[in-house]
Amino acid sequence: MNPQLILLISLISCLIVTACQALTDDEITSEWNTFLERTKKSYRSPVEASRRLAIFKENLETIESHNALFEQGKVTYKMAVTQFTDLTKEEFSQYVNKFKLSQRPKQSENIYKANPNLTVAAEIDWRNYGAVTYVKNQGQCGSCWSFSATGSMEGQSALVNGQPLVLSEQNLIDCATSQYENYGCNGGNMDGAFEYVSYYGIDSEEDYPYLEYQSDCEQRESVFRIRSYADIEHNEQSLQQAVSEIGPISIGIDATNELQNYASGILIDQTCSQQVNHGVLVVGYGSEGGYDYWIIKNSWGDYWGESGYFRLIRNYNACGITLMASYPII
Ligand SMILES: *[C@@H]1O[C@H](CO)[C@@H](O)[C@H](O)[C@H]1NC(C)=O
Repeated sequence: MNPQLILLISLISCLIVTACQALTDDEITSEWNTFLERTKKSYRSPVEASRRLAIFKENLETIESHNALFEQGKVTYKMAVTQFTDLTKEEFSQYVNKFKLSQRPKQSENIYKANPNLTVAAEIDWRNYGAVTYVKNQGQCGSCWSFSATGSMEGQSALVNGQPLVLSEQNLIDCATSQYENYGCNGGNMDGAFEYVSYYGIDSEEDYPYLEYQSDCEQRESVFRIRSYADIEHNEQSLQQAVSEIGPISIGIDATNELQNYASGILIDQTCSQQVNHGVLVVGYGSEGGYDYWIIKNSWGDYWGESGYFRLIRNYNACGITLMASYPII
């Protein structure tokens, strides 16, 4: 063999071997600096910073080995660094659970149930119909419930009233409080938010902007009203028909596990439970590569996931997806 060719082959195989080896310190440092820049995080002390870096490194190794499985076609989703990559699994779980959804003692008198005589769309993505606003970020406030609620109200405003609006989570956090089983930044539920809006209406994001903490209720302006709200029967046929017929739907899921470092693809999370703790918004559904999925809008900013969204396996009752699904009635 020609010596130049041998050199080339050994150079290439060397590169491949290097790529397959564990991350170098330089790579870790570079990822860490990008993480700090993008998340604007800073730590109390150098000790805390080095503890966070050690956790980050461990997560980075999990991400690398998971993505190697993805390249081999063994898993259906990719992982990446997110704003939660400096947390241990336990800390992330605490973060989600601290902000947990509250259960309401009563159900809505309106129950949405699949009508088997109706045919539903094979796939739908309400983002293509102007029914979904930009991805928001709840930050360090346990207000997922308010983002989930504004999401389905924004959908109905656009689809039913023909009025695209961006609605105020802060209005709900400050005003739809304990009598609706809502606790500001310490959790809440979407139906309580809907009930409040059925009495008082809701203001726009612009007029009543997000603070990331609970403040005094101010009755400013109401730009959107609803009559009532409906709960969806606890099965995915009903949820699918509701998404197809009505628009974006508020749901609760267990978000404690694989969402921490989720990047893209169809999430099949073997470890999530049926204990819902995080309010989000289904904005559509579809199928890809033999897997059915839901398209879900999160409130963790657009640095996370598929530009703020994730896709979750459909028709497996994944992560308690059917247990807290509801929508506003205009
Ligand atoms: C479905 O169609 C059948 C036959 O027409 C009818 O008897 C039934 O009431 C329909 N079901 C619903 C939920 O509309």
